Amino acid sequence: MNTVRWEIFALLRDYASLVPARFIQIPSNISFAEMNRCLVELIALNPHFQLYAPSNQYQRSFWKTMVRQLEDLLNRSGEEDEEIDPRILDHYLSTLPTSGPTPGSSAPSLRGQICDRGLPLGEPPSKSFVTYFWKPKLNQVQEHSHQDMVNLTHYRSSTLEESRTTIEGGTTGLRTWFASHMLARYLIQNPSIVEGKCVLELGSGIGYLGIIVASLQQLSPKVSSSLWLTDVNEEVLSQCRRNVQLPCNISSTHKSVEFRVLDWEEVLHSNVKPLENLLQNQINPDVIIGADIVFDPALVPPLVAVIALVLQLGYKSGIQRSAIIALTVRKAETFQSFLDHAREEGLFFEDIPLPEANGFEIVDAVETGASADNVRVLRITLHQT
Ligand SMILES: C[S@@+](CC[C@H](N)C(=O)[O-])C[C@H]1O[C@@H](n2cnc3c(N)ncnc32)[C@H](O)[C@@H]1O
Repeated sequence: MNTVRWEIFALLRDYASLVPARFIQIPSNISFAEMNRCLVELIALNPHFQLYAPSNQYQRSFWKTMVRQLEDLLNRSGEEDEEIDPRILDHYLSTLPTSGPTPGSSAPSLRGQICDRGLPLGEPPSKSFVTYFWKPKLNQVQEHSHQDMVNLTHYRSSTLEESRTTIEGGTTGLRTWFASHMLARYLIQNPSIVEGKCVLELGSGIGYLGIIVASLQQLSPKVSSSLWLTDVNEEVLSQCRRNVQLPCNISSTHKSVEFRVLDWEEVLHSNVKPLENLLQNQINPDVIIGADIVFDPALVPPLVAVIALVLQLGYKSGIQRSAIIALTVRKAETFQSFLDHAREEGLFFEDIPLPEANGFEIVDAVETGASADNVRVLRITLHQT
């Protein structure tokens, strides 16, 4: 099944990226038989999801919703010979907890514990594999005239194991944030920014953007690309390494991805030489990237100082570097402080128009409160370009 209707692809994409089941609707133009078949072939039996499955909690909620919608579809269709494929029901049942309450106990029954969303009440969302689909620029042109059908072979996917809460273990870094989707989209549409280059990412989190950059570099025929993924938090960085190296990601074949603890506050140390040495002699980047790293007013001065330092070190050695930073404007003052500090450091910035969605909306905004309306992508340089 290489070519599917756009609506079926959207359902696959939503399942893979864990869009809450309450937002997923079986498309009205799809027959019961086609839906039955697609759910089995593309989702239930998909070998990728067997190896990199969404959390049990998510699957339970998804299949519960699908079974309910399939029943409605069947009732409306009046097809008496049809039935829900038993593999769908088996799949749903396999996600339900096996042990019920102890006889005689006052614990609520299994079904009673399942609230409307199909999740036991009070249970926080668990860590999960998440798969994001994306289309390399080359294939975006090819499919232009057939937008009602999607050729799955034109898509790539990036899989990560991530937390589903916004803050866990005191860090925001264990999940993928909306701004990194926007920056990824921009880089996918402008791959020459990273192809054949040395890219330094600040505050990489668990690596979504890193996987995209490493994949774009791998897909390019140019040689000698490299990528440095840096973050202050070692646990986040370890998860980032595991994600980049998942065998299903093209990034796992990249020979030159480095993972390095880099705390922006090092720039405030009295001896900045070790940091300069790292940035100039070891990394020596062509371009700096960062997504959703402007969020804490206290971190704005060191962050801006690190960006300025990398650009200045480049200038001194005759390399014109730039930084591309995507941020979600949650508080106008934090964003303003970022711009003010950047000006004080002698930096110039220009807004990069947000890339077209290309029919590929990012539904994750539902959970993080971010949307394209409050995301800015900035190109920062030392001299006006
Ligand atoms: C909101 S998360 C964004 C993660 C990722 N870029 C994304 O968009 O999904 C902010 C990231 O900045 C990192 N961070 C926070 N303070 C830092 C510091 N002082 N130096 C370096 N990284 C830091 C966090 O560990 C976290 O991974």
